[in-house]
Amino acid sequence: MLHYSEVTRDDLEAIINLYEKYLNAGTGVKEYLRRGLEQDRYVGYKCVDGDIMVGLFSARPGIYFTYSHPELEEEIRRGWPEAIYTGDMLAIEEEYRGRGIAHILTKGCCDIVKARGGEHLLVELWVKPNGEEPAGGVIRDMGTGVFEKKWVIPDFYSELHLHGLTCPLCGDGKCACGAVVGVIKL
Ligand SMILES: CC(C)(COP(=O)(O)OP(=O)(O)OC[C@H]1O[C@@H](n2cnc3c(N)ncnc32)[C@H](O)[C@@H]1OP(=O)(O)O)[C@@H](O)C(=O)NCCC(=O)NCCS
Repeated sequence: MLHYSEVTRDDLEAIINLYEKYLNAGTGVKEYLRRGLEQDRYVGYKCVDGDIMVGLFSARPGIYFTYSHPELEEEIRRGWPEAIYTGDMLAIEEEYRGRGIAHILTKGCCDIVKARGGEHLLVELWVKPNGEEPAGGVIRDMGTGVFEKKWVIPDFYSELHLHGLTCPLCGDGKCACGAVVGVIKL
């Protein structure tokens, strides 16, 4: 049976596993995830089947991207100087997809962020080279006009390999994926 709850520090290995399997693997990933989990206001909402974590949506206070994009970060910092969280990761084990788990985790995580004083959520949505946006539907379901502002950036990950990270689709070469970056009012 599926069970939903907040993550604890004991979940670090399961979080790393989901991140490296479905998002990016490489230098710094484990440390980034460990530091997040240890932050006071970090929020991670998980779905567990038995004792296996099968999905997670997490968020942390501040502005973060997969790797630094200084000009965009500065623009967001100026526009939303306070109470902004970044959606860290959304990943569901393959055999559990299409059942609304991401939908439930997104709503659950955003409710906790709001309860802890977060007013905005910065999201970085992966856009595959074929235009597919895996999390597009889940985010659209948050309502029309969900983004206060959004940026469509086709070459967002072009320097991913220079940061020691690999893309699940493009491998360790130059990444051809893009991103939709958006600020959501919670
Ligand atoms: C993207 C991902 C998290 C979606 O997880 P999921 O649990 O299959 O998603 P859901 O079942 O909640 O939603 C799937 C679809 O059903 C729709 N849906 C909405 N409400 C729903 C509900 N109550 N029940 C079921 N489906 C619902 C969603 O809008 C979504 O539409 P889409 O097909 O247009 O995307 C999953 O495919 C994944 O982990 N992919 C790999 C990692 C990744 O791409 N992460 C996002 C990076 S930005």
